[in-house]
Amino acid sequence: MINLSFLQDFPKDFNFGVATSSYQIEGTMYGNCGKSIWDDFAERKLNGIDGKLACNHIEYFKEDIKLIKDAGFKAYRFSFAWPRLFPDNNKDVNLKGVDFYKQLLEEINNCDLEAFPTIYHWDLPIRFQKIKGWEDQETCKHFGELSFFISKTFGDQFEKISTINEPWCVSWLSHYLGEHAPGIKNIQSAAKTMHNILFAHSQSVEALRSCNDHQIGIVLNNQFGQPIDSNEENIQATKLFDEIHNRWFSDAIFKGKYPELALSILEKYLPENYKTQLELISSPIDWIGLNYYTRSLIKYKKSDDGVDYECNSGTLKKTDMGWEFYPEGLSYFIKRINKEYDNNIPIYITENGMANNDKLSLGNRIQDHDRIEFFNVHLKEVLNCVNEKLPVKGYFAWSLLDNYEWAFGYSKRFGLVFTDFQNFKRIPKNSYYEFQKYLK
Ligand code: FCB
Repeated sequence: MINLSFLQDFPKDFNFGVATSSYQIEGTMYGNCGKSIWDDFAERKLNGIDGKLACNHIEYFKEDIKLIKDAGFKAYRFSFAWPRLFPDNNKDVNLKGVDFYKQLLEEINNCDLEAFPTIYHWDLPIRFQKIKGWEDQETCKHFGELSFFISKTFGDQFEKISTINEPWCVSWLSHYLGEHAPGIKNIQSAAKTMHNILFAHSQSVEALRSCNDHQIGIVLNNQFGQPIDSNEENIQATKLFDEIHNRWFSDAIFKGKYPELALSILEKYLPENYKTQLELISSPIDWIGLNYYTRSLIKYKKSDDGVDYECNSGTLKKTDMGWEFYPEGLSYFIKRINKEYDNNIPIYITENGMANNDKLSLGNRIQDHDRIEFFNVHLKEVLNCVNEKLPVKGYFAWSLLDNYEWAFGYSKRFGLVFTDFQNFKRIPKNSYYEFQKYLK
């Protein structure tokens, strides 16, 4: 029987937590929240399936924090919604929004959980799309101001904070592949946002440092790329995939440069002063967040813009997203950060988890055995790294609740807790109880 009994072998101060994000759980119809690019994208591309209600976390947050506490977790990673704090413009703050995050942080701290806020998890106020959102560095400047505001207003309630969740998704997935808001598909936009989202990070770090004594991080999503076979073309294609998906961001943050192959394609679209800005982008951070889900098999495929590869999936066991179980990739990236980038920086696994087609069975139980297996195989990799004395300090399961899974709407369930989207009832799944058994 696969279980999580080895959780007890982690060091006492290892931080186990769960993660969520604002747009995916809060419900934008509550508390004067403004519109974001996701509301617009949902209307245009997803038949209006949006985050208006989501999990109604705004009204249920106390219950949700209690669920985290009762499972024995020690930390909670969540994000601030920019359009909730500044719904209409960049000056007039929404007091209901401020009040919500104050109450939320108070509840987290009263429950002796550690708050790990993220400033940006994709819900960009729609007004910025008039200036093309992240394609314009004005947005980055405003992001610096938002960061200052958050630190000044809430900064006494937490120690660690991260600036941006998954810059690859904000840029490439949303501006080259067009799968996420704002749904753009062109290489110029992609290249600009690949750089600007990192510039935004630098603006945020500067603002946070000027305001408070935080431990600052950024959350990168790394995906393992494997050549589909040993053909030289496919090996080169995999290198390019790895640079665009992974190294672009870690090279910039830790080394102040962009990787060669990717740069040879994207450089012509970058602002002239990008090298100067890379100096700011690589100013030191205090910890790094790693989100990890799966691998891709990479095959050479000629294209007009130089992005000559395609991603395939293999024959390993898959989640409901069609993502393969590939736990080896998690320890691979932990080691890579440590050995190739910074051998001191504390590493937090800020997201890892799986979608499963969960169904209620008799007695309101949810037998999500596959999810327990997913956590089992990934956490074993993490434990091995801890035992090898790598500085991995925490692990956050994605996610506390079934929620709005972006372009998939409510059809993909990632929660440790089942959400009934009709009445907002929360029903812990077996995976939740499995964590509880060994964490409590
Ligand atoms: C990550 C996102 C998170 C969630 C998971 C499944 O890329 O950060 O919001 O959607 O994937």
